[in-house]
Amino acid sequence: MEAELQALVQQAEAEQDAVSTWPKLADFKAGFVGPNGSLTAASKGIAKLPKEEKPAFGKKINEAKQRLEAVFNAITERIEAAELAARLGPPVDPTLPVADAHGTEHPLTQVRERITGIFRKIGFTVVEGQELETEFYCFDALNTPASHPARDMQDTYFLPGDFQLQGEKRRDTESFILRPHTSAVQIRTMTGRKPPVRILSPGRCFRRDTVDATHSANFHQVEGLYVDTDVTIRDLKALLDHFVKELFGADAKTRFRPSFFPFTEPSFEMDVQTSNLRKLSGKWIEIMGCGMVDPNVFGHVDYDSEEVSGFAFGMGIERIAMILHGIDDIRHFYQNDLRFLQQFPGA
Ligand code: DAH
Repeated sequence: MEAELQALVQQAEAEQDAVSTWPKLADFKAGFVGPNGSLTAASKGIAKLPKEEKPAFGKKINEAKQRLEAVFNAITERIEAAELAARLGPPVDPTLPVADAHGTEHPLTQVRERITGIFRKIGFTVVEGQELETEFYCFDALNTPASHPARDMQDTYFLPGDFQLQGEKRRDTESFILRPHTSAVQIRTMTGRKPPVRILSPGRCFRRDTVDATHSANFHQVEGLYVDTDVTIRDLKALLDHFVKELFGADAKTRFRPSFFPFTEPSFEMDVQTSNLRKLSGKWIEIMGCGMVDPNVFGHVDYDSEEVSGFAFGMGIERIAMILHGIDDIRHFYQNDLRFLQQFPGA
């Protein structure tokens, strides 16, 4: 009978490797320790033994049980480990470099850099403005009277509340606003600084626009300002001509239409026409406002308009990006959909 116990333990040890799933383990166990299992059957033999042999045989049964338990435990651990490995997937080496997961610059950033790059090459300095502005910098100093529609609550975000920006001399009657255009940077740059001035200022602007395919309450502009002695409209046209050729290609042409902005006189809308813009090829497309700096603006920054003259221009970065890339809806820029963003892998 002892040999029988010995044999069934050996059998369990020999067969254990084939048990690889929970149902197989349950069957395997039942074959030894279930109601009809071989160990269960063998233990029943104890009843027929003489009394004095019973304790020794009982001990052997316990030993056999323990060895079977060890086999069952080993199988359990092996199945659990296999399940965990299947969940984790193939082994990962965290020290390896990441493949193909590099981010790229946002298409608006890429276009902003292209624009500023063109002007940097010809001596313009890029300056940062500030998004939280005052009416003085956005309107008054830009010759925009209180009655001007641009100041309307419908267009501009006014920030109520009595707070003071660091280093800001806030006038009593003034409201803080989220800047509706980057033109405020003209005033911030000229104030306290002598001409010549040659700056470009890209940045975020805010208007209470209802969002649709071409409007966003949150958008970006680039402002340009050039002030020196004897600056004329010819300089403005030559510079912007150069800009569009660099941006759209050598065959790009410009057209200036009379327009109105409070801070320039005369003022123009500038259109561009080029042959390499898919559906827009050959069409005149309006891309910016510009003009000669109004003498009243110089008056606000203590520049003598008898001595200096200058021009300014402003354009929307979203608009330029949409024209360059044939994008038909401004909302794509802000939704962070990878299917859109991955079409602009950048340099
Ligand atoms: N600030 C104008 C706007 O937001 C754009 C603009 C027009 C800027 C003419 C200029 C300019 O500097 O000269 O519509």
